[in-house]
Amino acid sequence: MDLESVHQRYARCSRCPLHRGRTRIVLGEGNPASPLMFVGEGPGADEDRQGRPFVGRAGQLLSRMLEAAEIPRAEIFITNIVKCRPPGNRTPQDEEMATCITILREQFVAIRPKLIVTLGSAPTRALIDPAARITRVRGQWVERKGVRMMPTFHPAYLLRNPEAKREAWIDFQAIRDAYREVLSASR
Ligand code: URA
Repeated sequence: MDLESVHQRYARCSRCPLHRGRTRIVLGEGNPASPLMFVGEGPGADEDRQGRPFVGRAGQLLSRMLEAAEIPRAEIFITNIVKCRPPGNRTPQDEEMATCITILREQFVAIRPKLIVTLGSAPTRALIDPAARITRVRGQWVERKGVRMMPTFHPAYLLRNPEAKREAWIDFQAIRDAYREVLSASR
């Protein structure tokens, strides 16, 4: 199943109550064959309006960090655990994540990334460890089914806690190095 077909299949998804409050579904964007994927929590107001992930203030910070790490945003794939905006930007509920994660899993199958970065607590718990504390696990690679995964801080957290940017930058340098390694191995 290619990514386009996955996206077409879910374009009008109504499998959980979040669809009722959405303006647009935000399935994700970028390179459909990217070895590197970033997974956030869920669309905010700007993303809901534009139908694109990480375009608001947090997204702009993510773009700047990618640029500083010399990872072109258009080369990678960026998405979220839930594809519709939770009301008032609340954290997605377990049931919403459990329903929506099937889309993400189909995206993984289509894209076949080698590296996955989880941004903040929700995607880290949903994909790596339900008990994970982001401040403890950030910056550490774990391997699952041949895919290397690293949690780091969510950019919205960095906007509220700028002192954490130093650690996030260490993580982004490690992500850059791993990405370069994967690219040169596939050449
Ligand atoms: N925060 C997220 O987790 N995802 C987005 O797409 C935007 C902000």
